[in-house]
Amino acid sequence: ALIGTVAEPKTASVAEPLLLNAVRGENVERPPVWLMRQAGRYMKSYQTICEKYPSFRERSENVDLVVEISLQPWNVFKPDGVILFSDILTPLSGMNIPFDIVKGKGPVIFNPLHTAADVDQVREFVPEESVPYVGKSLTILRKEVDNKAAVLGFVGAPFTLASYVVEGGSSKHFSKIKRLAFSEPKVLHALLQKFATSMAKYIQYQAKNGAQAVQIFDSWATELSPVDFEEFSLPYLKQIVDTVRKTHPNLPLILYASGSGGLLERLALTGVDVVSLDWTVDMAEGRRRLGPNLAVQGNVDPGVLFGSKEFITNRINDVVRKAGKGKHILNLGHGIIVGTPEENVAHFFEVAKGIRY
Ligand code: CP3
Repeated sequence: ALIGTVAEPKTASVAEPLLLNAVRGENVERPPVWLMRQAGRYMKSYQTICEKYPSFRERSENVDLVVEISLQPWNVFKPDGVILFSDILTPLSGMNIPFDIVKGKGPVIFNPLHTAADVDQVREFVPEESVPYVGKSLTILRKEVDNKAAVLGFVGAPFTLASYVVEGGSSKHFSKIKRLAFSEPKVLHALLQKFATSMAKYIQYQAKNGAQAVQIFDSWATELSPVDFEEFSLPYLKQIVDTVRKTHPNLPLILYASGSGGLLERLALTGVDVVSLDWTVDMAEGRRRLGPNLAVQGNVDPGVLFGSKEFITNRINDVVRKAGKGKHILNLGHGIIVGTPEENVAHFFEVAKGIRY
């Protein structure tokens, strides 16, 4: 106990979040853990907010709601990463591409882009003007979480964003964007370039306002064959990484693509710090293919959370063992599935946080 006259020591040095130390290859006692889509419909507390605020855009564009929803999983599970509640499509209205996210249907782009003239109408993104609520929310989250976890920002990758705005929403065969890619590639390249410039700025904006690491979602890049990935995705991802490195050389960048087993070595060429693996890749093989310099994230099958507690425990241990010590962020291989029992998510975090290398 301190004598009355001695000032209470201020937190002498604020320790860096475990997630950042792990990405940098420092000595950590366990892998940090967070879950993609950790805020959302599997939580009763989120569903309660949805009843009061039925519009996804309102929930994701109002500072108080964004902060409250982002903190819901933090308050219950204490993950090592707190991701901003938002969507990869959030920048679109600021780029003159009106959209909505409709319950039961998903993303809807009101006027899908098909021609050079359509692409001309797309404005480059100025985050400060279009999404000031994102910067404000990140700043508040950073204060609330206070380095006990890393605040994570995210953006959509150019090809994945282009797939939504060309297809008009989610897609099964990606035939419209492929028609564009394979018959009028210049038009698609012009669109991809606008997204690349805009998303690089958006990452810089998020970092400036409190994001301590940023995940790039190229969820649908794996719909491309490797040669087409090299033309329509890889150069734009590289450009984003290079641009962000100039202003934020130490900001960890995480890249996720769904079903990326055929592309892993090419994902590494983007220059990101972490590749997030989906569950169709064996973690040990993924690690080997990516090499020792990259960190890995993942990759428990989200469906495992519908299994028994013992099964969940075994799968966590399997992934952690295969990833090896350090440079691993424990996560799922894609977002949490709606309907996942909250108690199984709680169990996942409990087991994960009890791991010691
Ligand atoms: O991870 C988190 O908790 C942060 C929040 C987050 C959301 N979307 C909230 C959201 C993140 C990181 C995203 C990213 C996103 N959005 C991606 C990349 C990740 C992935 O899944 O591959 C993509 C492809 C989108 C586009 C999108 N938005 C889709 C396909 C959907 C699902 C539509 C549906 O009805 O299921 C959305 C809507 C969306 N974004 C929801 C959430 C929680 C569900 C709708 C709701 O809660 O009302």
